[in-house]
Amino acid sequence: MTDFPPLKNDLIIRAALGEKTERAPVWVMRQAGRYLPEFREERRKHDFFTICRTPELATLVTLQPIDRYDGLLDAAIIFSDILVIPQALGLVVEMVPEKGPVLPNPLVVPEDIDTKLQKNVDVYQELGYVFKAITMTRKALNGRVPLLGFIGAPWTLMAYMIEGGGSNTLSKAKTWLFRYPEAAKRLLQKITDVAVDFLIGQIIAGAQMVQVFESWGGELSPHDFTTFSLPYVAQIAERVKAKLKLDGITPVPMTIFCKGSWYALESLSSIGYDTVSLDWTVDPVYAKSITKGRVTLQGNMDPSVLYGDHDTIRATVRKMLETFGTSERYIVNLGHGILPTVDPENMKVFLETVHSVGLQLNGA
Ligand code: CP3
Repeated sequence: MTDFPPLKNDLIIRAALGEKTERAPVWVMRQAGRYLPEFREERRKHDFFTICRTPELATLVTLQPIDRYDGLLDAAIIFSDILVIPQALGLVVEMVPEKGPVLPNPLVVPEDIDTKLQKNVDVYQELGYVFKAITMTRKALNGRVPLLGFIGAPWTLMAYMIEGGGSNTLSKAKTWLFRYPEAAKRLLQKITDVAVDFLIGQIIAGAQMVQVFESWGGELSPHDFTTFSLPYVAQIAERVKAKLKLDGITPVPMTIFCKGSWYALESLSSIGYDTVSLDWTVDPVYAKSITKGRVTLQGNMDPSVLYGDHDTIRATVRKMLETFGTSERYIVNLGHGILPTVDPENMKVFLETVHSVGLQLNGA
């Protein structure tokens, strides 16, 4: 493994592992993105996936929020996308401005698993650019904050691969679940195998913590979640940690974010993840009582509160910190990604309040 500069702020790692912290650490999903004018400027010059595939550009963009909110963010997240796995599997994915991801040749029938997807994926060959970006970014961070890696969870990726992009009903992907359940499971397993190798590669390349995004978990009923999501996200945590241990590499903390799957919190806190990320519809009191301190909780302010005035943002953050507690098993975040039309100043008010109220509540 590469030699990296020593870490100066390990707050988020300690929080994830259940150690006491002097204040709750904070980062924000999609913190590198379109709400930042400096990001929009890079995007005018380069296509989305060109930024992902060019380590120097991915490093530059990953560091933008870290530099702008100097000392206020406790983690950086590598600039990439969950849809790089479908690309590695052989599908074309384009990022269309104002529309989002488009897969022009999606999976339609079960036979497409064999005809449209690669049999074996060598993640070093297909996704080596992400590993290079991680190593370069971690060096550029110079130990300021830990670098997070991430992947999309199998069900969410399967849904994009069948829908061909975003969808309100997921009717095509769900057709597979209820008409071809065995083919659906074969596809989910195929994605899981790539996801495991990809996460291990990210950790070897320098990711100090990783998050699994099941963004469309909440589209499934509790029963279907247990069949088509939970076994695969559980497998990912188990296999990644086991393989790293076998190879003599210390496993890093792992976070699971299943948006909308409040009903699965008890299971999600018992399958090998260190941290469970919550969307804003989950009551923190409920989340704490059902997970019983087995995991660190992350979240969960409604991203739209950042459209409020400064006092509303401050009051909401204070209430959130009072409920979650600030010294143990808690990482502050939004309940989903920051929205592209948020004023960067409001993000600053959010971060500053997390620091000041966090320290205050801890008696500092
Ligand atoms: O700052 C970060 O969080 C790191 C980078 C990151 C991106 N996407 C960059 C991005 C991360 C962690 C993701 C994860 C991701 N990508 C998810 C899971 C999180 C979630 O929001 O539920 C999903 C579902 C995707 C797929 C995706 N990528 C969609 C649906 C879209 C379009 C909608 C949107 O928000 O723009 C993207 C595009 C995307 N990914 C952008 C960025 C900065 C904007 C694209 C652009 O610049 O044109």
